[in-house]
Amino acid sequence: MIHIAPSILSADFARLGEEVRAVSAAGADMIHVDVMDGHFVPNLTIGPAVIAALRPHTTLPLDVHLMISNPEAHIESYAKAGADRITVHAEATHHLDRLVAQIHASGKKAGVSLCPATPPDVLEYILHTTDLVLVMTVNPGFGGQAFLPSQLPKITRIREMIARTGRDILLQVDGGITPTTAPQVFKAGANVLVAGSAIFHGGASAYASNIAELKKVYV
Ligand code: DX5
Ligand code: ZN
Repeated sequence: MIHIAPSILSADFARLGEEVRAVSAAGADMIHVDVMDGHFVPNLTIGPAVIAALRPHTTLPLDVHLMISNPEAHIESYAKAGADRITVHAEATHHLDRLVAQIHASGKKAGVSLCPATPPDVLEYILHTTDLVLVMTVNPGFGGQAFLPSQLPKITRIREMIARTGRDILLQVDGGITPTTAPQVFKAGANVLVAGSAIFHGGASAYASNIAELKKVYV
């Protein structure tokens, strides 16, 4: 089963509510929200106020990807804003175990994301309590970048690590996902595809076919 998570980073920011409603109706499985602070990554996007404003526009889970420094200080704000899953970067904290526990204590599912240069080993002692792993297939910060094939063996390795836990952990990929790269990541073991530019183009009437295009190779 493959899940599609449209990244609203590529949506029209002047009409975000409408865009979220459009992809929700077009077959999305969750809404991926990229939070960037201009510090952990060189770009700056949105925060809890915008997430709270979007919450009433969809019944799908809000999958919040925090690309921020000092995530410990902000978990409760994102939980309160209406996030269902909160994903943090392993590189952004010295205390990943404590941070995952903090997300769970806020009542939300916890994800751990790895930048392209980060080896999968950092997951070894945290996987038993993690709900989602996010493998970045570009360097985080911007939409529309080229997929990094170097991440394919990492996806396979993490899929094996997940299988050993016997737990149902989502394996998500993010960056450069297109109808060409989607089958590659799926084959490597990913089951949640985040896609921004591959979905948000051609106007709202194209979103359903853009999503179907990413899904169709697996049925
Ligand atoms: C990158 C973000 C991604 C990005 C993906 O830092 O985490 O979610 O929006 O965009 P595309 O699909 O255009 O590569
Ligand atoms: Zn993302």
